[in-house]
Amino acid sequence: MSTARRPLISGNWKMNLTHLEAIHVIQKVSYSIDPGRYSHVDVSVHPPFTALRSVQTVLEADDISIALGAQNAHWEPSGAYTGEISPLMLAKLNVRYVIVGHSERRQLFGETDDMVARKVAAVFKAGMTPIMCVGETLEEREAGGTEPRVLGQLQAGLAGLNPEQVGSMVVAYEPIWAIGTGRTATPDDAQAVCATIRAAVSSDHGSQAGGSIRVQYGGSVKRSNIGGLMAQPDIDGALVGGASLDPVEFAEIVAFSGS
Ligand code: 13P
Repeated sequence: MSTARRPLISGNWKMNLTHLEAIHVIQKVSYSIDPGRYSHVDVSVHPPFTALRSVQTVLEADDISIALGAQNAHWEPSGAYTGEISPLMLAKLNVRYVIVGHSERRQLFGETDDMVARKVAAVFKAGMTPIMCVGETLEEREAGGTEPRVLGQLQAGLAGLNPEQVGSMVVAYEPIWAIGTGRTATPDDAQAVCATIRAAVSSDHGSQAGGSIRVQYGGSVKRSNIGGLMAQPDIDGALVGGASLDPVEFAEIVAFSGS
């Protein structure tokens, strides 16, 4: 973590929690987080679409300084796209961060680099911040293909953005083999890829963008490994899946990132 960039800890709840359960979890998260310890950390939670309005209401009514996030968005503002949700709809709920191109969407729902790029641009257009996910499979890693895979996704996803936009966004490096498997990249391995991402952003979009873009690590982040990850100079936070469903553990991850 660099002192120049505020860490961002994001909880991706994936397809978990009804809106009633989500209210319970966000209330517990807010009671569990000690505000004195996380004043220099940004925190976001990403409930499923059906719980966004309920979580928004709790965050705003209780003046909780946790940002609302979404897990996906379509690239069009409206239209005949049955089952999709537009960035405009999310912005109206005061959503701040939108996860784009999560590996589960790429692998299970056929999202291509081109779709991801359109979504990133649409999220910016609606005034929100994209968290764009990149990451390699185990086969790619074992064949030495991590860098070309990650940099290919990065380049495609950022095409057409201006340097200010690039510098204000978030990239989440999530090696697919580490997601939900309990297998985390070592802090050194995660740092190496996050540094490569930052260097590529600097070279393609300028050193200012490279210096300010936030790079998260994701994949089996827990209270036991957050410290080692956050000690790395190019890791600016975490995208937390399973552990973010446990309010106490999530609060500990946040507290550790800010200490
Ligand atoms: P886990 O933390 O459950 O491995 O999930 C990581 C992830 O995919 C976050 O987006």
